[in-house]
Amino acid sequence: MPSARSPPHVAPPRPLIHHWLKSSDTTLAGPQPACYYSLSLPFMPTTVFTIANQKGGVGKTTTAVNLAAALAEKKIHTLLIDLDPQANATSAVGVEKQAGKSLYGPLRGEGSIFEMITPTAYEHLALIPSEEDLAAAEIELAQTENYLMKLRGVLEPLRKSNGYRVIIIDCPPALGLLSMNSLAAADQLLITLQCEYLALEGLGQILRNVERLKDAHVNDNLKLGGVVMTMFDSRTNLAKQVVDEVKQHLPDNIFATVIPRTIRLSEAPSFGKPIFAYDPNGVGSTAYRSLGKEVIERFGLHAK
Ligand SMILES: Nc1ncnc2c1ncn2[C@@H]1O[C@H](COP(=O)(O)OP(=O)(O)OP(=O)(O)O)[C@@H](O)[C@H]1O
Ligand SMILES: [Mg+2]
Repeated sequence: MPSARSPPHVAPPRPLIHHWLKSSDTTLAGPQPACYYSLSLPFMPTTVFTIANQKGGVGKTTTAVNLAAALAEKKIHTLLIDLDPQANATSAVGVEKQAGKSLYGPLRGEGSIFEMITPTAYEHLALIPSEEDLAAAEIELAQTENYLMKLRGVLEPLRKSNGYRVIIIDCPPALGLLSMNSLAAADQLLITLQCEYLALEGLGQILRNVERLKDAHVNDNLKLGGVVMTMFDSRTNLAKQVVDEVKQHLPDNIFATVIPRTIRLSEAPSFGKPIFAYDPNGVGSTAYRSLGKEVIERFGLHAK
């Protein structure tokens, strides 16, 4: 059984990134071969994105919520999964936490994932909310067989159902079992990096974990889908330097869209609204629309 619990090494990010890129296929995925067919809809595979980074406060949730909303705005059926017991993505789309409505039950083998899907106020955007109980899953999963593969199994019927073109998983700020499960279940890893000192160190750490999962053949299909630079402050040289450095190391992976630091993006969650509903014409909306467009083009997503 593969283990993800050996202590992470802090390695200089530069060689690590190069090693990872060399040792794995980072070809950007186009549509996968269809294996299951719905009678009513043409089969369109579901692309599962996980937004992970063990660093806290780097824009994972803001990106998960607003990228999901940007894709939904383009009529792409999108399911946002809140896998963080903090439940920030849940409240950011205006959904109340509710006992028994999260992936906690399905991860324990109780209840169906379909029962957990909750509509949002936004067309084409559904949510699987989080609740505090999900924190217990971190501990309980460790005591089960195949503990890294639970989420993949839970998502399987959803992939087969042909119901969503895109699933976006928002991870907690730790590479614990929930995040590792999401890496084992996803097709594409999106990493958010705050444009600040030490951003690259965090990048090295998560890439090392991905490498371990790949070495253990936990998820041979996982690709580095892209790196999103967040909270860019154009007034500082440091922010520009960090973006340039990531561009230099990961020219094919970094998204051209850089998310600016703007108060509107930090206010929107307290109103339970994605940025498009809170400040539709502001720079935050423009940036996440542009990121959505890039994601659609890069991964060949189109509306069902
Ligand atoms: N582009 C931005 N401009 C201004 N504030 C932002 C921006 N992106 C995120 N924030 C704010 O920064 C804080 C951290 O962002 P967010 O919650 O998205 O990060 P996170 O990586 O999900 O955090 P955690 O690791 O705790 O889950 C939040 O208060 C959020 O509103
Ligand atoms: Mg978060």
